[in-house]
Amino acid sequence: MTSEVKVLIDELASRHTLSPDGYEQLIERRTPEAAEHLAKRADAVRREIYGNTVFVRGLIEISNICKNDCLYCGIRASNRNVERYRLDPDTIVACACDGWEYGYRTIVLQGGEETTYYSDDVLCYVIERIIKACPDTAVTVSMGERGRASFQRLYDAGATRYLLRHETANKEHYERLHPSSMSFEHRMQCLRDLRDIGYQVGAGMMVGSPFQTTRHLVDDLVFIETFKPDMVGIGPFIPHHDTPFADEPAGTLELTLYLLSIIRLIHPRVLLPATTALGTIDPLGREKGVQAGANVVMPNLSPVAVRKQYELYDNKICTGDESAVCRGCLARRMAKVGYEVVVDRGDIAGL
Ligand code: 5AD
Ligand code: FES
Repeated sequence: MTSEVKVLIDELASRHTLSPDGYEQLIERRTPEAAEHLAKRADAVRREIYGNTVFVRGLIEISNICKNDCLYCGIRASNRNVERYRLDPDTIVACACDGWEYGYRTIVLQGGEETTYYSDDVLCYVIERIIKACPDTAVTVSMGERGRASFQRLYDAGATRYLLRHETANKEHYERLHPSSMSFEHRMQCLRDLRDIGYQVGAGMMVGSPFQTTRHLVDDLVFIETFKPDMVGIGPFIPHHDTPFADEPAGTLELTLYLLSIIRLIHPRVLLPATTALGTIDPLGREKGVQAGANVVMPNLSPVAVRKQYELYDNKICTGDESAVCRGCLARRMAKVGYEVVVDRGDIAGL
């Protein structure tokens, strides 16, 4: 590694910030050796705060019906080849209760963006029932952009966390990934509203999405540094065969791991998942993610019958496994590399 990259890594580790040019150099001039050094620093920082523990979130994919048409996403509205489904409240609550038995203390309700069926009333009802049925469980919602009043109602019903990836912090890039009906400003406004209301907020981006440049990633890092999301979900872009980006190359494991380490050093306490997409592009992707500084994994808790229908990208892993199997498999995988999955709500440190 050139001594300049090493200096940048050391500076980032001690000051938690670099100039935009510094971030650019750090990314552009990376070497395998630099990545190793960076990952070691990131792992040390994460161990200081979270030890060797890994938090789990039980992900319930409650609906693949979506009114949006993001160009990268397999469940985009114009994909006619998807068999659409919605789970009803009873099914969702049953999944959440299964999760409680398996030791999850966070449930993530994720789904396509729509408010016709999943109106505030229905979502609030589901949230309230989960909270009653599952003691000491944090309910996280990840249902896309909604209005501030809607976010407020879900919060009042008991949801305390919301995941809404910013996807890219660069407006021009955002507009190349999304149809004109979606706006960068509105997405950012949603994130600010969620924060204002009191949610623990998750943002994040894909790595290697079409048209992404190093400068766009620098914008993402600056955004993470200034907004300081409680959670940052990043994973490689993976093409889906029924989207306009079917023939675009996937993002790489290597760059995703490198960015995970950078994000850990920017924001030491951040909740950083080793995502399913990372596990999809490499059989040991999630293990490597945790070794690079991630401290969260999100096994699937959806009913097996609908798993394959929630296909945001091709070849998604774990679509055939029972929830209990998923949970056990991840715990074993983490243990193999020296980390321990814990029964815990997994709040951000210092909350
Ligand atoms: N590849 C990787 N990640 C994707 N997502 C959507 N489509 C893809 C894809 N083709 C991510 C987006 C979204 C999250 C739920 O999944 O970042 O916010
Ligand atoms: Fe559903 Fe993007 S395609 S939110």
